[in-house]
Amino acid sequence: MDTMEKLVALCLNRGFVYPSSDIYGGLAGFWDYGPLGTEMRSNLKAAWWQRVVRERDDVVGLDSSIIANPEAWVASGHVENFHDPMVDCRKCKHRFRADQIDPNDRCQASEDGQHDLTEPRQFNLMLSTSIGASEGSSSRAYLRPETCQSIFLDFKRVMQSGRLKPPFGIAQIGKAFRNEITPRNFIFRSREFEQMELEFFTPPAEAVDWFERWREDRMQWHLDIGLPKEKLRWQEHGPDELAHYAKLAYDVDFEFPFGWHELEGIHYRGDYDLAQHAEHSGKDQSYTDPDTKERYVPHVVETSIGVDRCMLALLASAYSEDEVANEKRVVLRLSPRIAPVKAGVLPLSKKLSEPVQRLAMELRKRFNVAFDATGSIGKRYRRHDEIGTPYCVTYDFDSENDQKVTIRERDTTDQERIAQSQVAAYLSDKILGY
Ligand code: GAP
Repeated sequence: MDTMEKLVALCLNRGFVYPSSDIYGGLAGFWDYGPLGTEMRSNLKAAWWQRVVRERDDVVGLDSSIIANPEAWVASGHVENFHDPMVDCRKCKHRFRADQIDPNDRCQASEDGQHDLTEPRQFNLMLSTSIGASEGSSSRAYLRPETCQSIFLDFKRVMQSGRLKPPFGIAQIGKAFRNEITPRNFIFRSREFEQMELEFFTPPAEAVDWFERWREDRMQWHLDIGLPKEKLRWQEHGPDELAHYAKLAYDVDFEFPFGWHELEGIHYRGDYDLAQHAEHSGKDQSYTDPDTKERYVPHVVETSIGVDRCMLALLASAYSEDEVANEKRVVLRLSPRIAPVKAGVLPLSKKLSEPVQRLAMELRKRFNVAFDATGSIGKRYRRHDEIGTPYCVTYDFDSENDQKVTIRERDTTDQERIAQSQVAAYLSDKILGY
């Protein structure tokens, strides 16, 4: 099995990620997150929100609806431009994204294995639905293909209600939908996914400077959540690769087990979006500086990352196999902040369960901890290593007398004995320190 196969199996067996509606055969491009996946996503989103919103005084949050007035998607350019080129094989009837055909892919319906491809056609990636009781083009609406458009639609309200002035940013985390022609590579490219986006509104003259600052900030965040430096790189978009709204763009690429791919996009969108929405809605989107009386449409620097794709990067780089006391183990070396379970709380014997339950209850007020009393202590350590639990707290027969417990660290397997009363402070220090 290669790393991806092992990772997918672990995610399925341990409750990180399942195929959506699996009992009906699933649905390509849709995934469910199990108990551990849900915790991990929540930690990941919290780490992003903490850095991008809470630690700054120039960024605020938004939680907008998934469906907007369809005219917004005409104005944004998505109705006209949000296409991928699609081709079909006339023989095996498989459908491909024309720019992503694997040269090793063989046609199962032809003798020579060669596909007989149609000419590329443009395929719009927006998923549509209908609103209200009647169906037809007048009731058609779109599930947002990116979360950021509502940030532009609410820009003036947020600015005025928060008494903000550029430069400032609006951040949002939420679901996005794309009718991808070939969803693939597990949760890397899905049809339903979640984005964490920031739109930073600046005076035009300051935009390029902010673009560079945000690039630096975002790369540091990737390192802080535990992605290895050697698996991250910048990829600048050439003039032919820029999205329809972008003046300048860099991707943070990550080396996934299936190669280098975009993890996050940093875009300088100019005034494209606000100007488009001003024109289509007839509502002015400019800002007048009260001090200088200068009037301008703010320019936008965007940072945009998929929760699911980032989760895959974290899982893939954390997955490792090593040997402890001559025994093979699988270990997810996730950063403590991101790990779904922060500590396993383990009685050495079932007879000690009662005081350990009490300790677990106490720790639960602040951390996601798991009480685990079944199996040998070695087996329990392995189970926690496999799901990335950074610490195991073991209560043994001496604990009754000395009020101390043993803390085992996942990566080194080093153990230290500390006072029970210090466990919460110990975990807090280790987890919040990234
Ligand atoms: N608002 C800009 C925007 O949406 P994008 O480069 O199309 O830009 C940003 O998407 C990020 O969203 C990507 O870097 C990726 O992490 C994530 N993403 C995009 N499409 C995805 C998909 N089909 N499945 C999972 N994540 C996706």
